[in-house]
Amino acid sequence: MKIIVTGGAGFIGSNFVYYLLREHPEDRVVCYDALTYAGDLETLSEAMKDERFSFVRGDISSRVSVDRLFEAEKPDVVVNFAAESHVDRSITSPEIFLRTNVFGTQVLLEACRKYGVTRFHQVSTDEVYGDLPLDRPDLFFTEQTNLNASSPYSASKASADLLVHAYHRTYGVPVTISRCSNNYGPYHFPEKLIPLMILNALHDKKLPVYGDGKNVRDWLYVEDHCAAIDLVVRKGRVGEVYNIGGHNERSNIDVVRTVLKELGKPESLIEYVEDRKGHDRRYAIDPTKIHDELGWEPATRFEDGIRQTVQWYLDHRQWWEHIANGEYKRFYEQLYGEDKEKNKK
Ligand code: NAD
Ligand code: DAU
Repeated sequence: MKIIVTGGAGFIGSNFVYYLLREHPEDRVVCYDALTYAGDLETLSEAMKDERFSFVRGDISSRVSVDRLFEAEKPDVVVNFAAESHVDRSITSPEIFLRTNVFGTQVLLEACRKYGVTRFHQVSTDEVYGDLPLDRPDLFFTEQTNLNASSPYSASKASADLLVHAYHRTYGVPVTISRCSNNYGPYHFPEKLIPLMILNALHDKKLPVYGDGKNVRDWLYVEDHCAAIDLVVRKGRVGEVYNIGGHNERSNIDVVRTVLKELGKPESLIEYVEDRKGHDRRYAIDPTKIHDELGWEPATRFEDGIRQTVQWYLDHRQWWEHIANGEYKRFYEQLYGEDKEKNKK
């Protein structure tokens, strides 16, 4: 089988590339990625040594470039990870989220329709469901929960999901969608909560916690997400949505304290800052469907996953040092640097 992995130079996509190469020796993998600030070829350096892997640089929202890709590669399967993925960036610059996440997905769907594939899989997010209240721990997102996006990011992902459904219903494109909770693990870009806190703590810099720190996320080790997507692509029912999550809800402040403990750093580094606009309170996935239909369940406990993740960042200084010096440095200064005094609570 030939699989195109879009966005494979980013966090989850690269982990998925390595998962495929390891678990499916019979498959060929083509990574198609625009290499935005979030994509890094360094991340794929080991994959580059494998003759079953190839890399093509390109934008999913360029019809010409996507057509060229499909003509040259004739893929069986397309797994779409390519996206603008950071909620804070979507609040300051929403347009690119629409171009990449909505229009880019439509360009890929159109190519699947034109050239024919056995499966188009859309990697979506639990954020399309909006949020849940903190005082109702009995409530979870199921596949029947209404779409109720809060941020420009989640609105763009929800829009893409609707297009994926429409291409199935209207043109018969064989699609699946998975909606996963927050991932953590190797190659996580340091703008996101866990790697940001690890790197700031390592440098004895303040750890900026938004609002009261009580917002809850449902954390899943990235490898478990990759295994779930692989199952959905190979065994999931066409036209269906599968929620992915491991019942591992933690408040942000608890996650930050865990990171500090792992690194032996003091809690005095924590600094409460201005809240994110429209900040979702709680995410919680009900993974019954993927468990019952496909037999998936997470293999990594949070305590083990976070220890491995902290160790990975300690062992891969070169990877994040080179990232932290690029465009990301400017973004960090804008969000937490120059305006830091203003942002302090
Ligand atoms: P990421 O930001 O780390 O990586 C995104 C990748 O997409 C990068 O390699 C980037 O270069 C590439 N890309 C961006 N725009 C592109 C374009 N126009 N054309 C081609 N490539 C482009 O993102 P991530 O955290 O790995 O998320 C991957 C996918 O999973 C996204 O669709 C996201 O919505 C979804 N998701 C993420 C999480 C999470 O916790 N990170 C959870 C659920 C779902
Ligand atoms: O739920 C899945 C989603 O998880 C994915 O769809 C997104 O692509 C991914 O980025 C992630 O979104 P979040 O907004 O939940 O992740 P983030 O790491 O940005 O923030 C996690 C929580 O931590 C959130 O409540 C905001 C808070 N936070 C974040 C940062 C970066 C802070 O308190 N301080 C920070 O500096």
